[in-house]
Amino acid sequence: MTAEEAADVRLLRLIIELTSTDLEVTEVIQRVATLVTAATGSDVCFVHLVDEEHRRVVLAGATPPFDELVGTVELPLGEGIAGWVALHGEATVVPDKWNDARYRYIPALRGEDYVAMMSVPMAARGRVVGVLNVHSRQARDYAEHDLALLTQVARLMARTIENARLYRRLAEREEMLETFAARTVEAQEHERRRLAGEIHDGISQRLVSLWYHLLAAEDAAADPGALHRELAVAKELATAALAEARGAITDLRPSVLDDLGLGPSLESLVRTLSVPEVTLDVSPVELPPHVEVALYRIAQEALQNVEKHARASTVRLSLTAGDDGVRLVVHDDGRGFEEGSDDDAASRHAYGMMGIRERAELIGARLSVTSLPGRGTAVEVVVPR
Ligand SMILES: Nc1ncnc2c1ncn2[C@@H]1O[C@H](COP(=O)(O)OP(=O)(O)OP(=O)(O)O)[C@@H](O)[C@H]1O
Ligand SMILES: [Mg+2]
Repeated sequence: MTAEEAADVRLLRLIIELTSTDLEVTEVIQRVATLVTAATGSDVCFVHLVDEEHRRVVLAGATPPFDELVGTVELPLGEGIAGWVALHGEATVVPDKWNDARYRYIPALRGEDYVAMMSVPMAARGRVVGVLNVHSRQARDYAEHDLALLTQVARLMARTIENARLYRRLAEREEMLETFAARTVEAQEHERRRLAGEIHDGISQRLVSLWYHLLAAEDAAADPGALHRELAVAKELATAALAEARGAITDLRPSVLDDLGLGPSLESLVRTLSVPEVTLDVSPVELPPHVEVALYRIAQEALQNVEKHARASTVRLSLTAGDDGVRLVVHDDGRGFEEGSDDDAASRHAYGMMGIRERAELIGARLSVTSLPGRGTAVEVVVPR
């Protein structure tokens, strides 16, 4: 091995060691910049990273004193030599940049102090993630060997940078999942509170009345007429309590969904309304089970609101699949409302709309509620494909 080859191996080993430590990627870039500057006999090194979203390259590391400019210098993709290399994914050796049409003068990087340069792309998995540049004060033709060495370093760096990017993305996903889980728990809590309210207001109340009527029946043992009346009321209350309990259970898990599927379940919901005219436009759609439940619940609350508040003469429900996804619309021609104006509803329990909003958010759907006093209300949910 020649002395030069031995030096290359030492450099590459150092860089491999650096990239396999726990160092932040910015720190690795910084140290590599210093190492390659020395190894190629250059005076300065700039590392630019590609920002695909904004189609530019941004300075991410440099030998001092330019390290202070990290994050503040950028070039549009395709502009300047670094921008050109990033766009074309090709290395380039420039003996005298003043003779190169691609060169763009950046005062902050003191372009006037350097003449020759070498610029190589850092590519991983077929993507250019950045550009590695070394500059020299003197005009010089960087040797084949320098270019090969810089290319090797760029390859190692690309891996590290790409891995860091993937890791960041994974961390973001994880955070999103955590938020999602928290929201699910919140939604469940809300559902529990709602159910508790239903049991309290419906079932418990009836059982309490039932109890009083049974007491009265006991007291009326000597009066067969009264006894009969009390028992009749008690029977009615027991039946009602049973119906409420069944209702609460069905509410918890809409078994119609399993029995009939989403479309027919929605149709059966609409049929229980007392609105004079209903229009249905329901096409078969393919959705994951949890999305079906969410849409069913949203439709249920929207229809309940029509029944409770709208005094509508017609209600239209549609479930359709289009280019932008599956769309559910509940539209009535009732009295409508002004958003946020109903202090009364807000100060009471008014959970309905909040539930609709939460459910839409949980399944990543777009929700729009449009209502005008006197002009009806439309609740529209679009589940993206
Ligand atoms: N289709 C509609 N037509 C007219 N007003 C509506 C309609 N939907 C909602 N509203 C108004 O918006 C308010 C808020 O609705 P929301 O569903 O949040 O609460 P709620 O129905 O009053 O109570 P909850 O749903 O918690 O039992 C209602 O009180 C009502 O004034
Ligand atoms: Mg409601």
